[in-house]
Amino acid sequence: MNSMNCDLSAVLLDEYRIQTRVREIGMQIASEYKDKVPVIIGILKGGAIFMADLVRSITIPVELDFLAISSYGNATSSSGVVKIRKDIDADISGRDVIIVEDIVDSGLSLQYIRDYLLKHSPASLKTCVLLDKPNAHKMEVSFDYVGFEIGNEFVVGYGLDYDERYRNLPYIGILKEELYS
Ligand code: PRP
Repeated sequence: MNSMNCDLSAVLLDEYRIQTRVREIGMQIASEYKDKVPVIIGILKGGAIFMADLVRSITIPVELDFLAISSYGNATSSSGVVKIRKDIDADISGRDVIIVEDIVDSGLSLQYIRDYLLKHSPASLKTCVLLDKPNAHKMEVSFDYVGFEIGNEFVVGYGLDYDERYRNLPYIGILKEELYS
């Protein structure tokens, strides 16, 4: 038993469901980018775990890069004001780019990232998101690949943190409310 499990009120997505869905998305990307070498940009920190599993399910050559952002909000919600903490290294001009994010809540971070990367003139730009919270969107948001739609619960694990913890849980759970309220 994982010692962090007792901080959860429930497991929302177990390891098997996550891995199965991640493999499906990886296969879809491999088939849609056949004959191309996409640049896959993981958004740190939350997207790192998803990215690591996803790229190992993609059976065509890819290049990896990372963008680190932080949004200024409180520990459980983002403000939409985004700061770039680590820029991409690759020259993505004329390249096929896929953004890999762990979660879309308000949608503000993803919009900022898309607008930022589009300024680098990629040939194409798609978005791959593990978790989507449609009820939390504060704007029109659309993705190309989505793992799961979830409700407004505060979730941790598989890259997602509360106060930097729980990212290393191999599954996704709902954090007990008393731990953050
Ligand atoms: C999380 C998540 C997204 C963003 C989603 O990042 O990884 O980037 O919030 O929220 P939004 O749709 O309301 O903008 P966070 O700022 O917590 O950083 P982290 O990835 O380092 O945990």
